Amino acid sequence: SRVIFSGIQPTGIPHLGNYLGALANWVKLQNTASPSDELLFSIVGWHALTLPQAPQQLSEARMDMLAVLLAIGIDPKRSIVFHQDHNPNHTELAWIFNCITPMGKLRRMTTWKSRLAVSKNQADDAEISEAGLNLGLFAYPVLQAADILAYKATHVPVGDDQRQHLELCRVIAEQFNRNFKAKQPLFPLPTQLNTSSNRILSLRDPTSKMSKSAPDTSSRILLTDSPTIIAQKIRSAVTDSIPGITYDPVNRPGTANLLRILAACNNNEDVRKTAMKYKGKNHGDLKKDVTDAVEELLKGPRASFEILRREKDYLKQVAREGAEKARSKSEATMLEVRARVGLA
Ligand code: TYM
Repeated sequence: SRVIFSGIQPTGIPHLGNYLGALANWVKLQNTASPSDELLFSIVGWHALTLPQAPQQLSEARMDMLAVLLAIGIDPKRSIVFHQDHNPNHTELAWIFNCITPMGKLRRMTTWKSRLAVSKNQADDAEISEAGLNLGLFAYPVLQAADILAYKATHVPVGDDQRQHLELCRVIAEQFNRNFKAKQPLFPLPTQLNTSSNRILSLRDPTSKMSKSAPDTSSRILLTDSPTIIAQKIRSAVTDSIPGITYDPVNRPGTANLLRILAACNNNEDVRKTAMKYKGKNHGDLKKDVTDAVEELLKGPRASFEILRREKDYLKQVAREGAEKARSKSEATMLEVRARVGLA
């Protein structure tokens, strides 16, 4: 039996990349899991704090994210859905992991390196540019490892951008198992579960991933976008001037991105098969079909979300019950962890 764990930051309404790359897969896993599989889905507020957040906005985003998860079909009776910050075991375990994680490994994380690059543009001395970044951002992947290992999760459904974080999680698990040996290793080495659509690109710049933080809002489609907005954003998606439609991610990244979105909407159809249907057609045809498919995909969740987000008492109750279940599960792990490190 598997323990499936994943997380999402409450930094605004999720976009199509989050949905196709991760969230839709959470629901699918939940609905196809065997009865002995356990599933946990966490809204990771502590991770969100590694970048500046307006408190009022964060607080709303945190509630909205719970409503989104329920709206897309996460069932709190089947899966444990909870706010990370309701379970202090995550930070306790993260601290213990901090004490066995080499800084060199964290310096090699691409997420850290890209933040550093931005900061370096503003300062020319390497040390000064590090000084502008916070410790939480540096230790971000360690907290992520704690999220996963607090439940001894074996499977982690995430998009491809999280692969390096998951590799580090395995390194930390191994390090702990080695440092604090007993008859049995304490932690499993979790594997990544992903979908073919694990990398949805920006609609405005198909060389970078679709992201919540890109300044151009037309680069992403939000789960709550109206049909008109969806149509507008897809119409203005950057493609190329090569006539006809072919799947060529290297030379035609924008076109390939639209084909991947369409394939993902069509039950994760093989993208090459999708591309074949557009032989002899043009970008206009493709964009029209992508628009229809995305609207079809999002209309149900969007309507449920609008209802659920107003059910504040229900959301609080779900969060409370989820936190209790999560805590009782992670507390069992922490008893073993404390005993092994000598803090029992
Ligand atoms: P976050 O909140 O950035 O993203 C949530 C999920 O969405 C996926 N994703 C994408 N997939 C495809 N294409 C894209 N353009 C795209 N953008 C985002 C991400 O891969 C992710 O699965 N560090 C995590 C949150 C986290 C976590 C965890 C995940 C914290 N602890 C433990 C798993 C297990 C993150 O920043 O996700």
